[in-house]
Amino acid sequence: HNHVILHKTIVLVGMMGAGKTAVGRTLAAQLGVDFLDSDHEIEIAADRSIAEIFSRDGEAFFREKESQVIERLLEGTPGVLSTGGGAFLAPRNREMITAKGVSIWLDAGLEVLWERVRHKNTRPLLQTSDPKATLAGIYEARVPIYAMADVSVASGSNTSLEEMGARVQ
Ligand code: S3P
Repeated sequence: HNHVILHKTIVLVGMMGAGKTAVGRTLAAQLGVDFLDSDHEIEIAADRSIAEIFSRDGEAFFREKESQVIERLLEGTPGVLSTGGGAFLAPRNREMITAKGVSIWLDAGLEVLWERVRHKNTRPLLQTSDPKATLAGIYEARVPIYAMADVSVASGSNTSLEEMGARVQ
């Protein structure tokens, strides 16, 4: 049985490539609690990929679904919830997350983020002529918002998932 009982959901926030999903999965396993992933739940509910949702329905539609999914997931048994990189930006989402969860910003530097996302084409926001500059712009704009999280945890290129999970604990 579990030795850890969460009274609030641990909500991982931060940039694309910060490791929210991988760290969240590891942390949930270490704690023996459920792992939840908002992007994944949105894809299941819409029955298509994030990229398809963005291209067919637009970002505003995606953001609405994202809020609905986060609200639903926060109503269930507390666990570890990994969110998409934009989830913490909307005040409505921040309020829900702050009320029902403990937010943790996984803070990786720009170079680390770029190395992790550069070979993937799953992020619609980075489908631009200069994705590195786009990532840098998004990062700069979002840092002050991520900094509103309850906890900040720095991650780097040579930080193992186990180490990150331990730091988050
Ligand atoms: C987004 C990040 C993505 C996904 C969508 C938008 C963002 O999630 O939700 O492409 O606005 O930063 P990851 O942070 O898991 O890549």
